[in-house]
Amino acid sequence: MASSIPTTTSGFRIDLTAGSFDGLRLDPSMPVAPLGPQDCLVAMHAVSLNYRDIAMPLRLYPAYTKEDVVPCSDGAGVVVAVGSDVKSLKVGDQVCPTFFQDFEDGYPTKQSRASSLGGLNDGVLRKHAVFGEKGLIKVPKFLGAKEASTLPCAALTAWNALFGVEGRALKRGDWVLTQGSGGVSIFALLFARALGAHVVATTGDKGKEKRLRDLGADIVLNYREDPKWGIAAKEYIERQGGTGAQHVIEVGGETSMEQSLKAVAPEGVISIIGFLGGEAAAGERRTGFWDCFASACLVRGVLVGSKRQFRDMLAFMEEKGIRPVIDGKTWKLEQAREAYEYLRAQKFFGKVVIEIEE
Ligand SMILES: NC(=O)c1ccc[n+]([C@@H]2O[C@H](COP(=O)([O-])OP(=O)(O)OC[C@H]3O[C@@H](n4cnc5c(N)ncnc54)[C@H](OP(=O)(O)O)[C@@H]3O)[C@@H](O)[C@H]2O)c1
Repeated sequence: MASSIPTTTSGFRIDLTAGSFDGLRLDPSMPVAPLGPQDCLVAMHAVSLNYRDIAMPLRLYPAYTKEDVVPCSDGAGVVVAVGSDVKSLKVGDQVCPTFFQDFEDGYPTKQSRASSLGGLNDGVLRKHAVFGEKGLIKVPKFLGAKEASTLPCAALTAWNALFGVEGRALKRGDWVLTQGSGGVSIFALLFARALGAHVVATTGDKGKEKRLRDLGADIVLNYREDPKWGIAAKEYIERQGGTGAQHVIEVGGETSMEQSLKAVAPEGVISIIGFLGGEAAAGERRTGFWDCFASACLVRGVLVGSKRQFRDMLAFMEEKGIRPVIDGKTWKLEQAREAYEYLRAQKFFGKVVIEIEE
């Protein structure tokens, strides 16, 4: 136990009725929950933003969000006090709260899904927070707090997409198709290259093409200039002797699925992750049953990942020396709204991070 435990802290809440970033409110005297025997008090040092975090106040998020929720799932900090029964963590440990506070291993359940942070339950955009020991993971010091803050949702989702299906885990020499230069996609690119797999990356921003190549993408296609980027990806892979992408990181959603199904290899995996492209316009063709049938692939919805997968990912990152890609601009807690606007403008590259000073 540490001696002085704050009873209040500062942090943000979202007033969902605003329907805009006006709903983000800084509360300078937010109560800190009492420390139970199995809890740890964490001083948050960094929070990273995901598309989900901006989708909630804009009411674009497709799942229920608790009114007045403390937003954001991804952060890192240091344990400053532990309850009497805590065994695996001690004061001074660098930790990340896990996206699902109650998901040790296996497949998602009703219970694990109900334990997500920053939507159904208060998240990490605050200076101090109490988490159960099982909802925290120790992060080795080879990663700094800003880097560690990017892992719980963005990195783990990419990891689960590439390695989460038994018998279909990404292998050296396989092909991965990533979409755009956001958090999940860049992690997938980093993991794939570290393993010796090949990557076809896409972007809608000409200025980001070289940066994706510099990270190791074999080829970068522009999804705005070439709406048939999935066909182009498959043709490119075939010219290199492959049969298509063994893994597709589907973050565009309904509007990009048709091209993903063109790019995927027979028996490849399309991981349905996001919905950045919104809904297909009225009259626009939607993919469905026959498209999946004809592509002879596995289409799989991904829900972040478990704590066991998080441990595996950390071990892989440490072994391969993988460091998250963080955008050049970082923000302070008081500037959270500007950081949200910055994410929405999509001019960033990699992860947008908010630093939290003590
Ligand atoms: N299922 C899950 O467990 C899970 C977990 C994490 C995220 N997600 C979802 O996955 C999606 C990505 O999340 P994120 O946090 O990585 O996003 P993000 O970091 O905000 O990524 C935004 C970037 O994606 C690219 N992009 C935008 N529209 C696109 C489109 N129609 N097609 C392809 N790329 C597009 C743009 O990059 P360029 O400028 O390079 O084009 C943009 O800068 C979101 O929908 C999010 O809600 C789901």
